[in-house]
Amino acid sequence: MSDISEEERRIIARMLEHCEAGTTDMVDDVGEHPVSNYADPTRLQQEIDTLFRRFPIIVGHSSQLAQTGDYLTHTATGVPMLVTRNTVGELNAFINVCRHRGMLVAQGECGQARTFTCAYHNWSYDLDGRLRGLPQAEGFGEIDKDQLGLVELPAFERFGLIWVRPSVSDQPIDIDTWLAPMAKQLDSLDLTHHVIFKTWSIDTDMNWRLALEGFQECYHFCSAHKNTACAGYLNNQSVFLDQYPHVRHAVPLPNIAKLADVNPTDWSYRPHFMTQNFLFPCNFAQVMTDHVYIHSIFPTGPGKCVFKCMMLIPETPATEKAAQHWERNYQVVRTVFGEDFEIGQQIQLGLNSGANEHFLFGRYEYGLHLGRRAIDDAVEGKLLCPVKAA
Ligand code: FES
Ligand SMILES: [Fe+2]
Repeated sequence: MSDISEEERRIIARMLEHCEAGTTDMVDDVGEHPVSNYADPTRLQQEIDTLFRRFPIIVGHSSQLAQTGDYLTHTATGVPMLVTRNTVGELNAFINVCRHRGMLVAQGECGQARTFTCAYHNWSYDLDGRLRGLPQAEGFGEIDKDQLGLVELPAFERFGLIWVRPSVSDQPIDIDTWLAPMAKQLDSLDLTHHVIFKTWSIDTDMNWRLALEGFQECYHFCSAHKNTACAGYLNNQSVFLDQYPHVRHAVPLPNIAKLADVNPTDWSYRPHFMTQNFLFPCNFAQVMTDHVYIHSIFPTGPGKCVFKCMMLIPETPATEKAAQHWERNYQVVRTVFGEDFEIGQQIQLGLNSGANEHFLFGRYEYGLHLGRRAIDDAVEGKLLCPVKAA
């Protein structure tokens, strides 16, 4: 008996039916998406204020904060954030802004520290964000140091990933309810025991949703990636699971056909699919047959976004051969993502041309429909991050 989930069994069964019939998952109707949603600075600001403030986003992997005093910083949302591992092993996140006059406190992308000393006037904070000391304190009168700690943000460690909500919350965020639709799959990946092979970041000249949408359908694989990803997968045949507000998109490898002759009790999932998991609002867990990419996309201004990616592999390469295997995978994915981003940037160039009032979402561009619905719901206030009852 194989150890795949019922969900994966359903995906395989549905995919084999599609193979037999020459079909794929489709939504009922073609969609029209206003081009203004990619070009209007007011709309972008609404998206930043909701999507990039009210929901947890992935900022790192647990291995980056393995030891007491390990820290990382994150600025891509527009909120400078500091994440620390404290002396009892807990994860903390703060706005990385000094409570005196606002200088960024922790410097660099990551490091090791017991205290963070602001470079401007040397106020210092500990791993729990407490203000520990300030030079010549008498100049501040009856200062209450307890009120002047770094401002805390909701932070979570789940499935080997570090999640932070980039704004203060009055009530505790219920991250487990939020991630519940994806939990079984994320848990099965065992990312806690993976290691980072590479991290990288790409600044691009396109609206963040153009980058996002490159990961939400496989209709483009055999045109945009005709010399790269096309051969690796069936052509525009896949299964989408609506796990609102998240999406599981299972893209079969050609070897899926072999499973038609295998007893369902012996089916395996991972060797037969690349899975693009959209983790609302801006994160993806892209699951390959033997490794995983975690990537997140953040708007950095009108017509600009940054793409941040981690390549996670099951263990530190023990041999040169193993290292070369992962390096080859890394190079391929950089090439494929580069192809996507070149297209996104060219779309950006024509956004304001007047050629299109709407973009068309085809019936098999299923993930675009699902992603758009969840984004619109959040911007309109209909989708909220769950909180724990008081
Ligand atoms: S701004 Fe940080 S010590 Fe003055
Ligand atoms: Fe692509």
